[in-house]
Amino acid sequence: APQSVIGQDSAQVLGQSYPRDDFTNVTPKILEKVGRNLHNQSHHPLWLIKERIKAHFYSLLIPPGHPSRKRGDNYYLNRTTMLRAHTSAHQTDLVRSGLDAFLLAGDVYRRDEIDASHYPVFHQMEGVRLFSNRQLFSRVQNGGELSLFERGGRRSPEKQETHTLEAVKLVEFDLKRTLTQLVSYLFGADLEIRWVDCYFPFTHPSFEMEVRFQGDWMEVLGCGVMEQELLNSAGAGDKLGWAFGLGLERLAMVLYSIPDIRLFWSQDERFLKQFRVQDIHQPVCFQTLSKYPPLHNDISFWLPNGKESEAGRESFTENDFYELVRSIGGDLVEKVSLVDNFTHPKTGRRSHCYRIIYRHMERTLTQQEVQRVHQQIEQAAESELGVQGRF
Ligand code: PHE
Repeated sequence: APQSVIGQDSAQVLGQSYPRDDFTNVTPKILEKVGRNLHNQSHHPLWLIKERIKAHFYSLLIPPGHPSRKRGDNYYLNRTTMLRAHTSAHQTDLVRSGLDAFLLAGDVYRRDEIDASHYPVFHQMEGVRLFSNRQLFSRVQNGGELSLFERGGRRSPEKQETHTLEAVKLVEFDLKRTLTQLVSYLFGADLEIRWVDCYFPFTHPSFEMEVRFQGDWMEVLGCGVMEQELLNSAGAGDKLGWAFGLGLERLAMVLYSIPDIRLFWSQDERFLKQFRVQDIHQPVCFQTLSKYPPLHNDISFWLPNGKESEAGRESFTENDFYELVRSIGGDLVEKVSLVDNFTHPKTGRRSHCYRIIYRHMERTLTQQEVQRVHQQIEQAAESELGVQGRF
């Protein structure tokens, strides 16, 4: 920083000039300090204590580098505000409001790949249930002698440091039983399901439930034992809880055999009228609309070389391309897949080739109209993503 000094007529502070007047009383010694910013000086004791305080508060939240914050995966209104990417964003507020069991549903936004089961806007339903010591152990013999919490424990794959293993196992059991009952109610008892261990920043242990759909395992929900720090900071530190978040589109696709996620946005009566049942428990026999034929076109380009990222901008990511295809091709695009990823042996330049499958949900597309869209995508890729076409 430029030096800050006081002269006969004016004070120079951080490169700005302030004329002296009858109020001026700052001294050269004081101005020497302006701009030092000791708290930003790496390993200075003030820096150290500041970093520790930050770490304490940030550990309650999603860490800054966590994938759920990446610009490439999310929609940002600006640096400080993004569209919510999951309904878990509301857990803290609702727990703080005093609820100890709740469901909530909302639309969520993610930049993602493009295929029949991914769409950048979808809907989630979140459920949370908290347990006091009495609620959890009342059904257990001599439950009065058990506790939810222990001191000096360690975090392990099975539990968090402050939880007792017996409490966690009961919460996990209740969670899995509750969700198994839910899917049996929705699908009937013979649906095949399995539990997969996974990671979420706000639950531990964490699991995904997968169901068997058209021969493949499909993830329908994430869940787990809530991080105790979240409950502590929301004023429910005397309880343990579970949480789950499920994708409504995924469930509806399996339940009604809806073949493509874009259909949810259809205004077509042939689609919508099939769900107008008298009673919500009445089964729906969904008839798939016949699929109109697809057309595909490939696009290849050289990726920009890594330089840009040094200037603080992310260089090319696959999601940038998917997003561009979405914004131009809209719902005509059924699927985009990376079909070739090539590095030139001499120059080291990388090239990607994507196959774009175009299909309209409600009519047959012509080669001509697809060509028009495809060319727009080619042009925009060059002008907006800095790639070099090999068209
Ligand atoms: N929020 C997670 C997701 O969107 C799902 C989840 C909810 C996981 C609640 C654990 C608990 O993927």
